[in-house]
Amino acid sequence: MPRLFGFARQPLPGPRALPLVGKPWRLYRFLDDPVGAVLALHRQGGELAAVVRDDPALVAVFGPAAVRAVLSEPARFQHDEAVFTGPPGSRLDLLRNAIIAVNGEVHGRHRRLMQPAFGRAAMAGYAEETAAVAEACLASWPVGGAPVRVDALTRELALCVAVRCFYGMDVVGGATELGHLAAELVEILTDPFTILAPFNLPGMPYRRAVRVADALLGRLAELVERKRSAGPPPADAFADALSRLIHTTEADGTRLSEAELLAEATTLFVAGHETIAMTLAWTIFLLEQHPDVLEATLDELAPAGDVPQPTGPWDASRAPTLDRVIKESMRVMPSVPTLFLRVCGAGATVGGVELPAGANLLVSPLAAHRDPAIYSEPDRFLPDRWVGFTPPAFSYLPFGAGPRTCVGAAFAQQALRILLPMILRRFRFEVPDGAHVSRLTRANILLFKRGLTMRVLPFDRVQRAPGRVVGDVRSLVALPGRGALVPA
Ligand code: HEM
Repeated sequence: MPRLFGFARQPLPGPRALPLVGKPWRLYRFLDDPVGAVLALHRQGGELAAVVRDDPALVAVFGPAAVRAVLSEPARFQHDEAVFTGPPGSRLDLLRNAIIAVNGEVHGRHRRLMQPAFGRAAMAGYAEETAAVAEACLASWPVGGAPVRVDALTRELALCVAVRCFYGMDVVGGATELGHLAAELVEILTDPFTILAPFNLPGMPYRRAVRVADALLGRLAELVERKRSAGPPPADAFADALSRLIHTTEADGTRLSEAELLAEATTLFVAGHETIAMTLAWTIFLLEQHPDVLEATLDELAPAGDVPQPTGPWDASRAPTLDRVIKESMRVMPSVPTLFLRVCGAGATVGGVELPAGANLLVSPLAAHRDPAIYSEPDRFLPDRWVGFTPPAFSYLPFGAGPRTCVGAAFAQQALRILLPMILRRFRFEVPDGAHVSRLTRANILLFKRGLTMRVLPFDRVQRAPGRVVGDVRSLVALPGRGALVPA
């Protein structure tokens, strides 16, 4: 858990807090809605803004130069090593070994050992499995009935892809149960109440996290053992990410320890399933709200009847419109709207301000993507802005930047470009009139507070007006025909 108290005050812009309860209240508000908080700080202008004025406990960093300073120097701006802590000896405590909770040489070693699981050679196998799993999963999507939770459908789809590609499991009860355990663990651990009160006492959510971690990591330990005793997969067979991790060695013959393997098996799933699911759901929503963009995308994907499924490493030139739609969707609604907090080491200076050791820094892709100096009309979903446009370094961050850039970016890019066309060529989606669409951020992921409820219809090319939407999504993106952005 980040250290949030006990810092000396220093001049930093930000909202004032009332004495005593003011700071805990602001911290709770921040943990509950980091996107709302960071957008409010962004509107103040400047490279630094504190969640509580003059308090370096939690400071947001804006602008490509300041963001570069933080993200490109991981030795000085480290990840919190106590982001997951469990009671000593518990399986939850093993998560301290996850790549996102280690720094320095240990982090470098994890990245080197994880790289082959996401290298070129692995991608073709994942593409085939992704398409096959999606084929089966999409066949069960409910068509033509009452409106359903589309975010739940994309979550189940991404979960099936993840258990297949990362764990090599067939998508039947046991595999999805594993996925649900992982999802539950993240949900509990990232609840603001768990973060502010991590007490292992009966009835407390933290106690539940310890139990769920025990069940999840116990199951993963069995899986690792089965894979290890089966030996490396034959060269002509599909190799899942976990098998690759188990059998990858450094030049000196060392490999990930048992605890590290279990932590990374959990990380892969946690980092790689909901992010893809929410990118799909936000993109489906944005396309429904922008019928002209949907038509242009379909012109490319389904000009006349069937088009062969795209498989293999993605070649953007095959569907440039789809490519721009995904880029723009990840700009407007990045599924990771805030990065992991960075903890300052001694002598850390950002934007000309020296910050104390232990200060926590927040970088927000969502705020970076709304810089009007880089993106004209930043609140509008305009995929064509990407024609001939490359944003400056450290100003487009859907996968982060610097030495801690997303390990699974290539996997995610490929999966999105396989799954989205498969979805769009099978179904039409309609937002029911007056649907509520609002954000919820947990585990750094941009979710839907009350779900994304839409009607799923059989595919057709009839142009429809977008559904009328209420909710705070209108403070994040200007929807056509609805006037200007509604302030948060
Ligand atoms: C649309 C999908 C995805 C998005 C938007 C996304 C986004 C990100 C971002 C923004 C970071 C940087 C976090 C930071 O700097 O604090 C990150 C890191 C990471 N991602 Fe992803 N990710 C996605 C999919 C995946 C997948 C599929 C995997 C693996 C299977 C994965 C594994 C990781 C890991 C292990 C890290 C930590 C890297 C490190 O600390 O060195 N991600 N991701």
